[in-house]
Amino acid sequence: MSANTSSSPKPKGKKVVLVYSGGLDTSICIPMMREDYGYEEVITVTVDVGQPQADIDQAAEKAAAMKTKHYTVDAKEEFARDYCFSALKANGDYQGYPMSTSIARPIIAAKAAEIAIREGAKAFAHGCTGKGNDQFRIEYTLRSMIPDCEIHAPIRERNLTRTWEIEYAQKKGVPIQQSLTKIWSIDENLWGRSIEGGRLEEPNFAPPEEIFQWTKSSEAAKSEKTTLIVSFVEGLPVAINGEKMSPAKLVMNLNAIAGENGIGRIDVMEDRMLGLKVRENYECPAATVLLKAHGALEALVLTRDELRFKKLIDLEWSRMAYEGLWFDPLKADLEAFINKTQERLTGDVRMVLHKGAVTVTGRESQWALYSEDLASFDTTTFDQRESTGWVKNFGLQSRMYQSLVAKHGKK
Ligand code: ARG
Repeated sequence: MSANTSSSPKPKGKKVVLVYSGGLDTSICIPMMREDYGYEEVITVTVDVGQPQADIDQAAEKAAAMKTKHYTVDAKEEFARDYCFSALKANGDYQGYPMSTSIARPIIAAKAAEIAIREGAKAFAHGCTGKGNDQFRIEYTLRSMIPDCEIHAPIRERNLTRTWEIEYAQKKGVPIQQSLTKIWSIDENLWGRSIEGGRLEEPNFAPPEEIFQWTKSSEAAKSEKTTLIVSFVEGLPVAINGEKMSPAKLVMNLNAIAGENGIGRIDVMEDRMLGLKVRENYECPAATVLLKAHGALEALVLTRDELRFKKLIDLEWSRMAYEGLWFDPLKADLEAFINKTQERLTGDVRMVLHKGAVTVTGRESQWALYSEDLASFDTTTFDQRESTGWVKNFGLQSRMYQSLVAKHGKK
């Protein structure tokens, strides 16, 4: 049986490192790398960024059944601390999406590259299609870390379809029982869960309740309110309700609490890097709560000008994160600014979670740009009379324009 194309590129060395999730696309890469691409050894790497333990175990079992040299890398804490929380400091958002899948790709590829270096391998394979963003993100990171590596993307290179893949897997004895029953294409990590595939990409298709696993619907969410205090130190969340937690634990806890309250369902139209407009469904409970809390603390602490300018920086940071340009110097430059602003971002934000809504009900910080004395209605510290001249000259140029219009007519 031959794939729908062309000759395969020459193998680079004897070993190939496969970025392996255990799903259908990456599983069929194993026999392909051996039989069609000419590699003697396939090394599979599964990176744990907070996907279900069952997926990680299943990937390891399949790898064992297909006799690859398999690595499972637990990157949860590093992912939460250096990727999710970097996104949080930048109020990371792309078209309403907290970029959960986007920010996981660089760390997954970086871990695969580390293993390639350890194994002395110069070739990689991945299961990305030619339509999505992940091919850009993964290959960019691999080439950043090993510039002269060879990268194989069989699904894209051979224009493979799901039907062809299933048939091929059955011929080659690739275990795919779970894949056969899966209707949706799911990608999960600590920062969120993405559900794609089937009719979900149609802009006007109402997502069925069954696609959601982390969040209750607002109707099914409990009727009692949950009050939550998130504590930040220099822009990083460190505790919930006074209890200190590691970054990954904090995010996992919040995913559970916010999900119970029906928070974090996101349904957007997304412009992919190639220009395709696709409808996307996400569940990002912890990210939704933390982004709201972080924004509320910034609003208390940063100056008006810092807030306005940081929006531009955050937008550019988010574009780069969406595209996976994790090691670009501009991203580091932007982060120098972002991190400087976060130095004063220490304080607490109180929120109420209830039936799909998260509402900020209070915030405090030793760096708050707020003076009760100045803002209060009862103060004499702020001498109101001093505003008179300021108010009188406010909008001077627009008044001058109006008098010119009166003289010459409208232009
Ligand atoms: N469109 C999103 C992104 O590019 C998520 C893709 C997730 N993939 C999936 N198979 N569910 O970041």
